[in-house]
Amino acid sequence: MLVMTWRGNSLVMLLIVVYFFGCQNNNDPLPSEWNMNVIPAVQEMTVLDGGIQINPTIEIQASEGLGQAKADLADLLNDETYAEPRYLNTDRTIRLDLTAYNYGLEGYELLVDQSGVVIRSNTTVGIQRGTATLKQLIWLNASEQGYFLPLVHIKDWSRFAHRGLLLDCSRHFFEVEVVMKYIDLLHLFKMNTLHWHLTEDQGWRIAIDAYPKLTEVGAWRTELDSSAYGGFYEKDDIRSVVAYAAQKGITVIPEIELPGHSQAAIAAYPHLSCTGDSIDVANDWGVFKEIYCAGNDSTFKFLETVLTEVMELFPSKQIHIGGDEVPKSRWDKCSKCQQRMVDEGLETEEELQSYFIQRIHAFLSANGRELIGWDEILEGGLSEGAIVQSWRGVDGGIEAVKHGHQAIMSPTSHAYFDYGLDAIDLKKVYAFNPIPKGLKDAEVSLILGGECNIWTEHVPDSKTLDQKVFPRLMAMAEVLWSDSSYRHYEEFNDRVQHFYPILDAMGVSYGQEAIPMTHVIHLDKSSAYIELIPYSDEIELKFQYQCVDCNPFWSAYSDMIQTIQSGTILIQPERNGRNYDEVIKIPVSTHKGINAEVTYEHPYSKWYRGGGVKGLVDSKLGTLNFRDGAWQGFWGTDLECVVELSEEMSITSVSANFYQYNNSWIFIPKEMAVEVSKDGQSWTSLQATLSDVDPKQRGKFIHTLAILSENTQAVKFVKLIVKNLGKVPDWHEAAGADSWIFIDEIQIK
Ligand code: ACM
Ligand code: ZN
Repeated sequence: MLVMTWRGNSLVMLLIVVYFFGCQNNNDPLPSEWNMNVIPAVQEMTVLDGGIQINPTIEIQASEGLGQAKADLADLLNDETYAEPRYLNTDRTIRLDLTAYNYGLEGYELLVDQSGVVIRSNTTVGIQRGTATLKQLIWLNASEQGYFLPLVHIKDWSRFAHRGLLLDCSRHFFEVEVVMKYIDLLHLFKMNTLHWHLTEDQGWRIAIDAYPKLTEVGAWRTELDSSAYGGFYEKDDIRSVVAYAAQKGITVIPEIELPGHSQAAIAAYPHLSCTGDSIDVANDWGVFKEIYCAGNDSTFKFLETVLTEVMELFPSKQIHIGGDEVPKSRWDKCSKCQQRMVDEGLETEEELQSYFIQRIHAFLSANGRELIGWDEILEGGLSEGAIVQSWRGVDGGIEAVKHGHQAIMSPTSHAYFDYGLDAIDLKKVYAFNPIPKGLKDAEVSLILGGECNIWTEHVPDSKTLDQKVFPRLMAMAEVLWSDSSYRHYEEFNDRVQHFYPILDAMGVSYGQEAIPMTHVIHLDKSSAYIELIPYSDEIELKFQYQCVDCNPFWSAYSDMIQTIQSGTILIQPERNGRNYDEVIKIPVSTHKGINAEVTYEHPYSKWYRGGGVKGLVDSKLGTLNFRDGAWQGFWGTDLECVVELSEEMSITSVSANFYQYNNSWIFIPKEMAVEVSKDGQSWTSLQATLSDVDPKQRGKFIHTLAILSENTQAVKFVKLIVKNLGKVPDWHEAAGADSWIFIDEIQIK
């Protein structure tokens, strides 16, 4: 008998063991090879020599209360995709046993022997995780001959208690069937939470009896092209989603956003805002200044009534109240809000936000529920027991656990599935570690787990949704379930390949694993070289350099490309001799500052590092995608930096590219001034240049600010002083918030 066992970090055996079982000890026409490529990887598995066939009408016995898990398996086995088996053993059973034995967090034991299958757990949810594994094994080993299972003994449990997907059904509305399909998918990959984002500036999606206009008015918007868009869930829809999820061991946590992201509710009930003015449901993306008035008691009465109806629908222990991205300009100017601050002894609007959240928290606590909020709820103080969902990196989560709060990690760096694959590909998600370095054990134990977020501004339909969520969700599922001692991307990626036919069968229009190629810039003396890195061995790259003096032609990429003139490098990825994806463009600039030393007066944002300290002098230019990694961001500060050239040089111009996308609070700066020096001590001002770009100009665009010197200057040091626009102006939806400067490449010529 052949026995293979692995546990945790010896999972690598999956790579090297192939299962050949040609000759069997019974009459089952078994496959010659077993497919054990379960995702997420199980914690302990012993594979024995041999296997069994099960027939679609196999008897399923289940402990009381497990009727749904039983029905679920019966549905799977009765799927008509597979032909009738040739061999029927009517003695075999599948048994789902609730037992007293504790297998760990959502843990279960799965045993396949000649008598059939047994799944044991001390909890219903553990059984549901076991049925997910069984489903995968059945699917992975099914053939035209029927259903087969290897003789196997699995013991499995979860690494984290909270494993979620945030689904934004507000920016775009998804029908109940789509939500149900995602519950099936979450179950299959052992995720346990659907974080259902139901209210937003652009649409209120949940029927509330006490406030019918929330859906009559708040669920509908007039798009920029004048078409009507909207939709909402009736209470019965919500009940059926919650019940279906419960049958699969998935908790649905509703998110009711407050005090910001509430324009749709205010459009329905204008008295909820500071001004009381009549406004429309938002029809563009961004952050909006119309928020609930914190000085008005009727706001709290409204929210408590809404939350009461929400709690009737959702039995989840936790309710998410948003709390992110709250511009305070309305509160600043509202006499009721200002009076509230006086009455409550609050000094800042951040403290007023904290008052708002704490008041809602007290209401939820009185109703036996816990509060989850985005990491902004830390600002101005947090009430006891509030759970922080960290999205602006992991710092909010770290701060929360250091103050004894529980945290859920969903940083934009790894968990934002609305971002493109250039920012977050499958490998990046797989590299996610929800536990930051340097925490004490007690702090680590406060990290409940993680979530991946799919915000749907740019996800208008379920096909796009599938493309964004898959295959990345499989990586998140493994990160959150399987032991951290084993992370081997290549082996995981091999397992992923086995799931594409299963996702096809489930009607999932999954996307790609990665963009075909990435690149790295190497700087040497005052030259830049671009190294292209194909995503896989199967991808070949052709490139062409376009510039004024170039003679562009396609050639096979073999060695790093030196940037020899300002222009654009075009790259065409190919697979099997055919174009694979579109041409990729890397704009480059050559100038005297390449690889210079740059020192900063104020640090750049850790979220928009733009390539780090050499990012502004690395030859590569930022593109219209402001998340392309080239743009360096400065939030709420001016930008002042000194570029030290490798030697004294004569220069005639200094220019820099800036970015504007005012929906995301990124503005062309007001002014750029340049000073030059030979010794870094005494400075000469060149003239300053003022921006003539209108901050109101919508859309995404790049603008260059340049300073030309009439006389050639011999300099070694160049100082840039770039003035931030300041607070987001009054006409903007996010008036009063801090503005961003986005800069890339300081070009010294
Ligand atoms: C968020 O992405 N605003 C939580
Ligand atoms: Zn107010």
